[in-house]
Amino acid sequence: MVLLICQHCEYKWNYQGENEHYATCPRCRYKVRISEDKAQTLRQKRWMWSNALARSEPDKELKTASPAKEPVKLLGIAGIVNRAAADYQYDKGMLIQILLRLQKNFGWLPMEMLIEVSKQLGISLNQVYQVATFYKAFSLNPRGKHLIRICSGTSCRVRGAPTILEKLQSIIGIEAGEVTQDGKFSLETVNCLGGCALGPMMTIDGEYYGNLKLLAVKKILSKYT
Ligand code: FES
Repeated sequence: MVLLICQHCEYKWNYQGENEHYATCPRCRYKVRISEDKAQTLRQKRWMWSNALARSEPDKELKTASPAKEPVKLLGIAGIVNRAAADYQYDKGMLIQILLRLQKNFGWLPMEMLIEVSKQLGISLNQVYQVATFYKAFSLNPRGKHLIRICSGTSCRVRGAPTILEKLQSIIGIEAGEVTQDGKFSLETVNCLGGCALGPMMTIDGEYYGNLKLLAVKKILSKYT
């Protein structure tokens, strides 16, 4: 039995479970990491306990075990973050993958979500924020239902990307970096989409459109309702 403190809700309890790496907080279900020294203590105590049980007093030992408390399920943003973080074993090194999962499921990353990620992974908010603002894949503002990314890299530019961008802007009525009023489209420019030989290029919701022609733009957009 070792004393654990939940980093999420600060609940303290005596842990005597089997897992030596993580324990689930009985109150909020947060996965609490077990430090190596506590894991060591846990192993020793388990060994002593099993010896005592084997000798003569199994009933007495079992009676001293405290009843498990009713777990409280995390709700809202905390619950969404908890599910993504649990899939990656609360590994700080998987921060980008966790944020990508949240971005995909939620559409964007509100500040409340970043705060929750920092709490549940046990890292600073500054660190989470730096990653979330460094990569263009993440958005800290709500996005439209469909995300249009048009390449403004050199190769696409010399092949006519600026005129394609103008056409897009005139059709959906917003500038790059904005969301249409009906929330249908977001328009973003990126430095390269990885298909330079097929420029000008854009993606809509991850689907690639290369060798774009002005006349084709409206028809492509009409596929997205
Ligand atoms: S420059 Fe446009 S895809 Fe690379």
